[in-house]
Amino acid sequence: MKLSVPKETSEGERRVALVPEVAKKLTEDGVDVVLEPGAGECSHLPDALYEEAGASVSEGQGLSGDVVAKVAPPSTEEIGRMEQGTVLIGFLAPLTAPDTAKALAEAGVTSFAMEAIPRISRAQSMDALSSQATVAGYRAALLTAQELGRFFPMLSTAAGAIRPAKVLVLGAGVAGLQAIATARRLGAVVSAFDVRSAVEEQIQSLGAKFVKLDIGLEDAEDAGGYARQLTDEEQQRQREALADVIGGMDGVISTAAVPGRKAPLLIIEDAVRQMKPGSVIVDLAAETGGNCELTEPGETVVRHNVKIVGPINLPSSMPDHASQLYSKNVQSLLGLMVDDEGALQLNFDDEVIAGACITHDGLIVHLGARKAAGLPEAEDGGDAAGQESQDTQDADDTQDSEGTEQDVESAEPEAK
Ligand SMILES: NC(=O)c1ccc[n+]([C@@H]2O[C@H](COP(=O)([O-])OP(=O)(O)OC[C@H]3O[C@@H](n4cnc5c(N)ncnc54)[C@H](O)[C@@H]3O)[C@@H](O)[C@H]2O)c1
Repeated sequence: MKLSVPKETSEGERRVALVPEVAKKLTEDGVDVVLEPGAGECSHLPDALYEEAGASVSEGQGLSGDVVAKVAPPSTEEIGRMEQGTVLIGFLAPLTAPDTAKALAEAGVTSFAMEAIPRISRAQSMDALSSQATVAGYRAALLTAQELGRFFPMLSTAAGAIRPAKVLVLGAGVAGLQAIATARRLGAVVSAFDVRSAVEEQIQSLGAKFVKLDIGLEDAEDAGGYARQLTDEEQQRQREALADVIGGMDGVISTAAVPGRKAPLLIIEDAVRQMKPGSVIVDLAAETGGNCELTEPGETVVRHNVKIVGPINLPSSMPDHASQLYSKNVQSLLGLMVDDEGALQLNFDDEVIAGACITHDGLIVHLGARKAAGLPEAEDGGDAAGQESQDTQDADDTQDSEGTEQDVESAEPEAK
């Protein structure tokens, strides 16, 4: 089997799908690994390291393999360069980028989205959403500290005492918990809020305070372990109650998300107005619409004397470790696809393979992706590409659970 790795082309993308350490393991297992020259350059991984690992580096070969491993979704041009029958692994935004899924199906590419890998215990080592969210959460806490003109820790100096900064983290999923842990390590007094009450203990175990809003909100965890979409009225009550809490903070890191949907609006303009001049908001949800009303994606703006940072693709700003973790996720997924002789074997009876598959045999086979593309549940009214074990729920619910219905086991969050 030939595995190829292109140099990422999307703007600002500095990660690479394979690091030399993983390339070495794959070549030892009989996989023929080939990279586009400079593929690892932005992650500080020169071509020579890949060649030492047994891979080859060759111009124009990044999309030529039986399997192509990428980070960012492929461009139309890249899809056009892939041969029919190619297997593609990467982030594909299946619920929000229907044109990519359509183009991949038309090109006859069998694609697997890292976002769609079921979040079951067996697939934890393949969970790129978690690995990259860990990077984003860490980075968000550092950004907040850097942009704030105040110390995070409490200091007692000869020139006087400094009070610790107060930091609020909104959304305590993988990124939020990592942001809490990092802000705590830097010495801030941290509190956090999430609509899933299950996270209360996790927040407290990291030394932060769980913010309870007295708004009569039922626990908002869905069957898959994700947050459900709140009603308009619930959201309104939540925003108003949060405004008071936010007003007393030096820094706010917002990470709230509902898979496949626009990010919930949590920080209204009035909340920003209540913050002290010089305070900082880092909105990790900027890419999906922002948790703050005043966020401008990709920009840092100052509104009402508060700095609002709306970073895009934060994991790419720490490419060395982001690539290392992502590459391990890819390696684990490949472990399900490659037999003992190093040959490609796709077993669609495996719920991970079936759940992550977006396109196969010229069709979009992932239920959430089909819905996003405006297609009926299945071409022939039955389940597609061995997805019998999933996608039986109401199509309306698929956007809440990345199109899969597997049980999300209560894995320990990485930040814990
Ligand atoms: N392998 C596994 O079993 C596995 C791996 C990773 C994560 N998980 C679980 O998946 C779940 C979600 O993880 P994620 O980090 O991908 O989440 P996410 O990125 O989808 O969302 C981030 C956080 O925002 C919260 N949120 C949503 N709407 C909100 C609102 N209106 N107000 C406040 N907070 C809001 C969510 O509850 C979540 O904690 C968690 O239960 C996590 O423990 C399981």
